[in-house]
Amino acid sequence: MKVTLNVWRQPAAQAPGKLETYDLDGVSADMSFLEMFDMLNEKLTLEGKEPIAFSHDCREGICGSCAMMINGQAHGPWKGTATCQLHMRAFKDGDIITVEPWRASPFPIVKDLVVNRGSFDRIIQAGGYVSVNTGGARDANEI
Ligand code: FES
Repeated sequence: MKVTLNVWRQPAAQAPGKLETYDLDGVSADMSFLEMFDMLNEKLTLEGKEPIAFSHDCREGICGSCAMMINGQAHGPWKGTATCQLHMRAFKDGDIITVEPWRASPFPIVKDLVVNRGSFDRIIQAGGYVSVNTGGARDANEI
């Protein structure tokens, strides 16, 4: 299938950012959202363009580092599912998908979709934890 991606591009923390549009063909419904991004980044690299920076670690839905906003929803349309476990079958051929970083004052943007998670890491290092109210998403500013 083919999708059109509007992706937040910001070269550095203090630089201005904007949405840039990319058309991507040949996307499999079985790909994870991050695998689709890998495919886009391979295409951008082959075209001599800067790949999109995004965070990921486990790609198993455990670490939470792949957080991003997809069409205005944290992690995308599948409730309680990390972006790395979101699959492209959640979208239809021809869909337009807007991808932005997780925007919250404690998590400043570092580059593109990468944010500084230092404030969250400090809570973990102090032995604390953050629970999620299943009644609705919490804004990171509440943490
Ligand atoms: S990369 Fe670890 S939860 Fe997505």
